Amino acid sequence: MGRDFLKPTISLIKIMILIKLGGSIITNKQKPLTANNSAIKKIATQLKKVNEPYMVIHGGGSFGHYWSVKYDMHTKPDKYSIKGVAVVKNSMVELNKLVLQIFLQSNLYPYCLPPTDFVFGDKPITKKSQEITKIAKTGLIPVSYGDVMWFGKNKFYILSGDRIMGMLTRILKPRLAIFVTNVDGVYSDIKNKKLIREITTERPTITDVKMDVTGGMKRKIDEAINMSKNNTDVFFVNGKVPQRITDAIKGKEFEGTLFRRH
Ligand code: IPE
Repeated sequence: MGRDFLKPTISLIKIMILIKLGGSIITNKQKPLTANNSAIKKIATQLKKVNEPYMVIHGGGSFGHYWSVKYDMHTKPDKYSIKGVAVVKNSMVELNKLVLQIFLQSNLYPYCLPPTDFVFGDKPITKKSQEITKIAKTGLIPVSYGDVMWFGKNKFYILSGDRIMGMLTRILKPRLAIFVTNVDGVYSDIKNKKLIREITTERPTITDVKMDVTGGMKRKIDEAINMSKNNTDVFFVNGKVPQRITDAIKGKEFEGTLFRRH
């Protein structure tokens, strides 16, 4: 009993940052199958300034979402069109390739990690997921993305990048998580662009204009609230001003929404 006092204190220093690059910022959502190369470049340049382990997860935007809608595929496991599965998957590989290329050109060292590498069915593979931090500690940047996944029993489902953020937060317990989108954060009123600076436990009432196959802003907020309940600070920032990403990382004052950990 008394021996417990002799145990060394476990380090409480959290490492690892998870960064989700939303499809709204890395693609042109108005134009099918169009990447926003200059936005990706600007973000990559900013990420070059981060000198601690982090992982990037990107969304589907006008690639994956475009085809998921066309083939009526959703987050619910189902027997979707196999052509749809092939097309969605291919479009995500294509977008991922672009992201990886731009990162490399910007002197970042991405390490492509499709979700099939650490998710089985709809559950993360704990042992494989835990290796991600070790990869990030080498200086490589693990890069994953929302994708269409094999569920089993002839069913597939759309796994969003936001879900991956939630899954990995539970396993990796990152120091913080950042959702980068094309808006400043969570608005209480979309018309007046009234920004909510901090959200604790309660889900705010927001007026969401558009929904997509993976649930839009509402779904993102629920994920972020759960992540903050898992003891991770979660930030929503605007990727059009990429410096806000590094400001959030450095703990500086920044424009955006913080879901404070508890
Ligand atoms: C979508 O991932 C993946 C597919 C549709 C295949 P996300 O749901 O994370 O994408 P964005 O960020 O909202 O575009």
